[in-house]
Amino acid sequence: MPRRKPSARKLSGSEDFDGLKRATASLPADWYHDPAHYRAELEAVFYRNWLYVCHHSELAGARRFRRFDVGTQSLLLVRGDDGALRAFHNTCRHRGAELCAEAGGRFARKLITCPYHQWSYALDGRLLATTSHAEAPDFDKADYSLLDVPLEVWRGGIFVSLCAEPPDFSQGLVRGSDRIEHWPMTELVVGRRWRKTLRCNWKVFWENFNECLHCPNVHPELVELVPIYGRRISYFRDDPGWAEHADDPDPRYRGGLRAGAETWSDSGRLAGEAFAGLTPEEIARGQSYFVSLPSVFIAAHADYMRSVRVLPLGPEQTELEVEWLFAPATLARDDVDLDDVIGFGERVLLQDAAASELNQRGLHARGFAHGVLMPEEYHVKAFHDWLRNQLEDSS
Ligand code: FES
Ligand SMILES: [Fe+2]
Repeated sequence: MPRRKPSARKLSGSEDFDGLKRATASLPADWYHDPAHYRAELEAVFYRNWLYVCHHSELAGARRFRRFDVGTQSLLLVRGDDGALRAFHNTCRHRGAELCAEAGGRFARKLITCPYHQWSYALDGRLLATTSHAEAPDFDKADYSLLDVPLEVWRGGIFVSLCAEPPDFSQGLVRGSDRIEHWPMTELVVGRRWRKTLRCNWKVFWENFNECLHCPNVHPELVELVPIYGRRISYFRDDPGWAEHADDPDPRYRGGLRAGAETWSDSGRLAGEAFAGLTPEEIARGQSYFVSLPSVFIAAHADYMRSVRVLPLGPEQTELEVEWLFAPATLARDDVDLDDVIGFGERVLLQDAAASELNQRGLHARGFAHGVLMPEEYHVKAFHDWLRNQLEDSS
């Protein structure tokens, strides 16, 4: 008879490791599909925090624009002829028609023209002309500029907020801004963009991102590249027995990439050169993460970066939009195989997408009130705590 794996040990309360020491209830199951709760989260979370739109290289050059939709809201981001980047509600001030139906591109003229009755606006949002034969004496065009929206560019990442008084920008930067500060994110350009709609609630995808208990079964290629993930953890102190291996250089215990690998790619080889400003420790680490809830995480590797934007489309639908960011010099080379890098990342994302959809399908069970978090799921708990605070603050 095959021997059964011994059951997991019991923790004592005082152990020196990062994990949770108490069984902690996960979120109420209906928060993952109830339409009323979904609307409450749009208000409390997505209409209040800074949201990632795209890398600024996507809007390089005057008159370039991009549409950005979240929940019931639609924004238009435009680079003016003065070089400034602005964000407006995608709504005409006349009677409220949608201004722009296209996802992005470049305006042929220095104007934004409403497709309904052709009011025209300057790229800085000023109303320039109506199409009426006359205007009433108390009508002043200056009162009808496009409704603007706060916008910030952080290390080349464009963020907007739907809140008239948005929180301090750094509040949304939940973790890791210091981890990626040596990466030249501002100078990079988008080498590939990828979009996918997932049949799951947005929180399910974030929860999956925040733990590695799923890694060996879901990501066979990734656990070969990052051996510690094969132990269902992402950091050595996630194991209560970590001290027994404190001096072991094996990446299964220490973290980092498998011997011979330099980046996240099918071959383990770099696409071009490693970024010049990184420390040997940052290169050896293999991956460094920056997370800005609720909308983006950015993975930084020795030779490229990858942003993963997470936006809800409905209670049980989530859109991922991924950018692979490379040095312009890398994209100019003809001896670099971008598919080596992109194919690897795409496979991992599709694996996570399938796992997230699997999770969502089980969440409707009558009688399943909520799940339970295990010690390794401490980042999931932090995400839940953050969400509960957001909901409380807005009620
Ligand atoms: S609604 Fe835009 S011009 Fe009338
Ligand atoms: Fe995963």
